[in-house]
Amino acid sequence: MRVLGIETSCDETGIAIYDDQVGLLANQLYSQVKVHANYGGVVPELASRDHISKTIPLIRTVVQEAGLTGGDIDAVAYTEGPGLIGALLVGATIGRSLAFAWRVPSIPIHHMEGHLLAPMLEEKSPKCPFVALLVSGGHTQLINVMEIGKYQLLGESIDDAAGEAFDKTAKLLGLDYPGGPALSLIAQQGQASRFVFPRPMTNRPGLDFSFSGLKTFAANIIRSNSMDQQTAADIARAFEDAVVDTLVIKCKRALEKTGYKRLVIAGGVSANRPLRLKMAESITKIGGQVFYARPEFCTDNGAMIALAGMIRLKNGVSCSLDINVKARWSLADLSPLTTT
Ligand code: KG4
Ligand code: ZN
Repeated sequence: MRVLGIETSCDETGIAIYDDQVGLLANQLYSQVKVHANYGGVVPELASRDHISKTIPLIRTVVQEAGLTGGDIDAVAYTEGPGLIGALLVGATIGRSLAFAWRVPSIPIHHMEGHLLAPMLEEKSPKCPFVALLVSGGHTQLINVMEIGKYQLLGESIDDAAGEAFDKTAKLLGLDYPGGPALSLIAQQGQASRFVFPRPMTNRPGLDFSFSGLKTFAANIIRSNSMDQQTAADIARAFEDAVVDTLVIKCKRALEKTGYKRLVIAGGVSANRPLRLKMAESITKIGGQVFYARPEFCTDNGAMIALAGMIRLKNGVSCSLDINVKARWSLADLSPLTTT
């Protein structure tokens, strides 16, 4: 069976085809970074317009790339939320319409479930149950994944998401949007010991996070130091170390709390190299195992939506023609699969 996946929740048009026998047959990503760069962040109306012009051509490309025709597709999965309403509507409308024309089921997917399952696209694939750390531009959550579709929120950020903190701090350092990868790049030249940022909410029990203070901390250092390239790199390094340490401490705590040995890290920030390395090192030390997707499947992509669609298709998910996109949507509201 083959599922076409459509991701249009934010500023990336991601389209892919997943085959349950062979794996990924085709995968295309168009990033809107240049469209939004002049504004320092995503402009929702521009995002929707760009998805409108890119989605159908990219679907044609992946179908061709896979050597298929529309008649070879068994279902169409698309991101239903959470995300920007206008952007979501583009993928949902095209997905539902194509499925109707091809007379196949269409499957609405929770964007964060897509992220959470993305490591299953890799050879080293996690089995349930596990703890998932979801770290993206809009979310920082620790999830108890009892089984696919059965999720319990263990903790989350009470203010900025980790990715948002990366992006805001990068902006303060004069780096271009999206700042996360740019900040991480200059941090490689930074000295670890020159500045020390706090590790928020680690000295009290619990699994919640708070990242907005780190941005303020960075702003204060920038104000009280004369800025040059090395100082910017040192601030970036200290900021990144603080975020990584905080995430590692909370993940260890979540594993202790659940008694699980497996940890999945997913979402855009899980592409961060120091996070992947330090997390793997610390979790292996306590006898656990860390799973993550290759960097291109950590950030938004169509492959994770096609995979999530395949898993739900195999479990008999069928939907009406209603389009019901959601800006906000809790993972805990999803339904478990009938068989896993
Ligand atoms: O999952 P994602 O592509 O989109 C959302 O669903 O939000 O995540 C995007 C976020 C952005 O905040 C971006 O700066 C951050 O992930 N990000 C990174 C890295 N790559 C992406 N942050 C730190 N280091 C990276 N290498
Ligand atoms: Zn995402």
